[in-house]
Amino acid sequence: MTAIDEIKARIDIIDLVSESVQLRRSGKSYSGFCPFHENKRTPAFAVFPESGSWRCFGQCNEGGDIFKFVMKKENCDFSEALRILAERAGVQLKPPSAEDQAAAEEHDNLRALLEEAVTFYHHQLMNTPPGAAALEYLMTRRGLSQQTIEAFGLGYAPLSWDATRNYFISKGYHQDDIMAAGMLSQREDGNPYDRFRHRVMFPIRDERGRMAGFGARILNPDDIPKFLNSPQTPVFDKGGLLYGLDLAKKSIRSLDQVVIVEGYLDVIALHQAGFTNVVSPMGTALTEHQLRMLKRFSRRIVLALDPDAAGDQATLRGLQVARQTLDREQDPVFDARGLLGYEARLQADIRVTTLPAGQDPDEIVQQDPQAWERIIQEARPIVMHVMETLAAEKDLDDPKVKTEIATQVLPLIEDVPSPVERDTYRQRLARLLRVSEQALLGQFPSTRPRPRSRPRPRTEASRPGVAFPGESSEPSTPPLVTAAMSTYTQEAHCLGVLLRFPELLYQVDRRMQQDELPRLSPADFQHVDHQTIMRLFIESIDQDQAEPKNFVLNHLSLSLMEMADGLLARTQHLDPNQDRVLEDLMRILLFLRRRMLDQEIEFRRFEMQVAHEQGDLIVTQDAQTMVKLSKLRKSIDRAIDRVSNRSLAARDVGQKL
Ligand code: UTP
Ligand code: MN
Repeated sequence: MTAIDEIKARIDIIDLVSESVQLRRSGKSYSGFCPFHENKRTPAFAVFPESGSWRCFGQCNEGGDIFKFVMKKENCDFSEALRILAERAGVQLKPPSAEDQAAAEEHDNLRALLEEAVTFYHHQLMNTPPGAAALEYLMTRRGLSQQTIEAFGLGYAPLSWDATRNYFISKGYHQDDIMAAGMLSQREDGNPYDRFRHRVMFPIRDERGRMAGFGARILNPDDIPKFLNSPQTPVFDKGGLLYGLDLAKKSIRSLDQVVIVEGYLDVIALHQAGFTNVVSPMGTALTEHQLRMLKRFSRRIVLALDPDAAGDQATLRGLQVARQTLDREQDPVFDARGLLGYEARLQADIRVTTLPAGQDPDEIVQQDPQAWERIIQEARPIVMHVMETLAAEKDLDDPKVKTEIATQVLPLIEDVPSPVERDTYRQRLARLLRVSEQALLGQFPSTRPRPRSRPRPRTEASRPGVAFPGESSEPSTPPLVTAAMSTYTQEAHCLGVLLRFPELLYQVDRRMQQDELPRLSPADFQHVDHQTIMRLFIESIDQDQAEPKNFVLNHLSLSLMEMADGLLARTQHLDPNQDRVLEDLMRILLFLRRRMLDQEIEFRRFEMQVAHEQGDLIVTQDAQTMVKLSKLRKSIDRAIDRVSNRSLAARDVGQKL
């Protein structure tokens, strides 16, 4: 590998660019505002992690790799960019020193020795009487085919204190090297003996397929430990290796997903069944190093955890647990906080799936390969996983339980960097606990002082007999309103206005039509609960049995009723006779529409770009959609201008929210 290749392999273009550009993921690429020209309106700058390239589709219309990026940013020439990036990547540009060369040579020797060991153990497995029992175990008991055994290079370490050592000595190896490769252990008196005896041998290779060490499983159930690994050596560092990655990386890339399981045999059985995007951290907690390695192949990571690791209530109480098993070298850890940290730092998408109790992936896939597929499909984001695991088999009508769960999950949600995701999780948590979102944020943790002696929202009178947590939905204590959540707030405001003054809907629709825009619909709202309320609201206009507001309230579930109540409370100060109300409403609705449309345009643009980069032709249909979308956007812009002209006084509405 040349120094340039080495640097490219080590530096993640997303990390590099993120230092100067705020990037958002859209599909397989990332987008943001171009750092090289003035424009803060359209995010015309895209980064494509797979090809390690970037491009500005706007004014610059330029692109390149990490070197080109640094050249432009630092305004320097190539050799300077090379120097900067080499230093960042820790790559030496000078010819390697004598020491480096010696180390590289030593590593090569160790790997060659380990390669020899693979051959030796494999021969023992396939061609010797003691190996026959091990082979029988692998094929009959564990259901592995001969082809699989070959592909993974499985072997058998004979029941002997010196067979392995003698083999290497007879081949001319020096005892120190056999020791350095991790094949021998030492007695107290300093005498060496074979480290692996009477075990199934799993060769562990690095991602490039070079030998690194062994995992070894007992054949005699009474032996301990159940698994024994190579010790730390110059070429074996467990936290920097993933079992199976050399064989899995191609399909990880093509499926754009990697699945992480616990055991060697899980990896092997899954590969045998055709699920080849699977690796294992070999019984230890996932390290950031391992995740960084994976991320080069895919950012979509699924953890297949066995239920006691994931579901142990104790785990989730502290959100971190170490499984105390005596015969383990290290304890696997499910650490939701840690994982969320990785996810944010690495801009990865980490999901968690829970296996059926008492079953390993190995058993599941051998029984029913489709069951495995279903399990992977059901993987959920970390926060959802924690939420649902905590709620499983709990009495969710018990307020104590609600508080307990909320107190544990809310801090996790706060760790999520994306405001949209945070918002979604809060909604999900509220729905799960059957409380309103406002109650959730206002009342948990219940340290927030409650405002008292405020007039209840007017609507309560119309629904006698139903108690509402009115306090939490007071407009003066809207815990949901933060700058980061403006879409939510703006949607809530619009719905509140409409519920309070239903006749405004006609005026809004008329104005939209004048501006050649579609009528208002649930799809104008991003939040599911808002969509539901809007849907009912539109229905309410078409009936004449009840006042629209009451119709809506009467047809909502209890938690949504609470929400609608909060929306109404939010707008109780408004005077319907002011023109301002309609102008504000129009303006915010148009902003919401534009924001949503921009997201769609951006998304489609990069989708097309990616298709283009990969050599796919741009389908006419895509191009037509783009034309349609940009026409729509122009209409919205014109409509916004018109609102502004009509009501200059409404100019500060953005700040007011
Ligand atoms: P398990 O005990 O679940 O074993 O350990 P397994 O993989 O299901 O093995 P089988 O199915 O009984 O053959 C899961 C993984 O944890 C690591 C190993 O990587 C193992 O595959 N481990 C386990 C250790 O490193 N040391 C141990 O003592 C036990
Ligand atoms: Mn197992």
